[in-house]
Amino acid sequence: MISSLHAAQRLDSRGNPTVQVELTTEKVPSGASTGTHEAVELRDGDDSAYGGRGVKRAVSNIENVIGPELVMSDFRVDTDQKKIDHFLKALDGTKNKAKLGANAILGVSMACARAGAAHSGVALYEFIRREAGGKKPFVIPVPFFNVINGGVHSGNSMAFQETMIAPIGVASMAEAVQMGSEVYQHLKKVIVENFGSAAIGIGDEGGFVPPISEPHEALDLLVQAVSSAGYSGKIKFAIDPASSEFFREGKYGLGFKKSPNIKTPKELMVLYESLLEKYPIILLEDPFAENDWDSWTEFNKVCLVELVGDDLLVTNTEYVKMARSKNACNAMLLKINQIGTISEAIEAANLAYSYNWGVFVSHRSGETTDDFIADLVVGLRTGHIKSDAPCRGERIVKYNRLMDIEAEILGDGEKCLFAGSQFKNAIKC
Ligand code: PGA
Ligand code: ZN
Repeated sequence: MISSLHAAQRLDSRGNPTVQVELTTEKVPSGASTGTHEAVELRDGDDSAYGGRGVKRAVSNIENVIGPELVMSDFRVDTDQKKIDHFLKALDGTKNKAKLGANAILGVSMACARAGAAHSGVALYEFIRREAGGKKPFVIPVPFFNVINGGVHSGNSMAFQETMIAPIGVASMAEAVQMGSEVYQHLKKVIVENFGSAAIGIGDEGGFVPPISEPHEALDLLVQAVSSAGYSGKIKFAIDPASSEFFREGKYGLGFKKSPNIKTPKELMVLYESLLEKYPIILLEDPFAENDWDSWTEFNKVCLVELVGDDLLVTNTEYVKMARSKNACNAMLLKINQIGTISEAIEAANLAYSYNWGVFVSHRSGETTDDFIADLVVGLRTGHIKSDAPCRGERIVKYNRLMDIEAEILGDGEKCLFAGSQFKNAIKC
């Protein structure tokens, strides 16, 4: 039973407010969890504090509405996660959690899951595995490190938001982290050699922000860094252009922050095809805008790599079903604060699996040092995660937790696979 629920306004990695939740049960106090930014998150809109981005209304909704209701209820955190999440959804009553705020609801949902795991005497990843109805052995995901930042996460003129490295040619998380980190350090040297030491600043997700604008320039830098680190062939690449951000009136403005460089969807498709041919790219996320469904469907017919819907699907079963009916992609990005409860995120993942799709777990660009998604990715067996560069506390805390999980499972004498080249179909391992 839940004995108290408290919330507070704290800061995320961008210095914007986010929600911290502290939940206590009669047996154990449980961890603090946070929800970060999203369209459905409740912001105060009071320009005199944090430029209107304060979350005091969401905090008040937890303190004065959700908390008293949950404390009065007879929900058990160890067995009733789905019931609790359903209750939270109903208490809000809107389609997009706009009344109480997805930031308020998610923080509570996460805190309940942590408390549920503690009450059950199991690790959070095991609690999530049981909630999802998943099987064993546990699969440790391939970490996708976003080492070059662009788009709205940076101040350079690169339209593409994320250029990632994925160490698939290793056998463990510990090796993957080492490889990612070493390539990151080599990339820093390559950037200094090419652009001087003033160019090693980093963006919102800890990746470098060199003064480049074309995707092939970013990929060429990665090729050099991987080669000088001695890992050619063991590391593949992935791109998230986050193209909704530069889609205007049916066209894509790749000049983004400087010259127009407008491309039609067809021209953009040609660009992707040439990049896929030239570089070892294994995953493409949001290559087209969230409402440009026809381009998604057309590209999915010819695209041979994992095609992930982020803005397109928003971790929502309604959109996942729509994408399936339009044959628009073959994988879902999973961001828990896009949907607002743990149970609904699990439901979306299971639906994607039922279509034989991949599921790619993701952090947000505005993050905290909460490591919940590391347990989530193992519990759901999704086989890959992006928490961005191996740099900055709010990014590395997820990778460090994954190394802990890997060591813990092996230490318990249990079988534990590293997804490696099976990252897309890890659920079937
Ligand atoms: P966001 O970026 O957290 O700013 O939405 C991440 C992404 O697009 O995958
Ligand atoms: Zn994305």
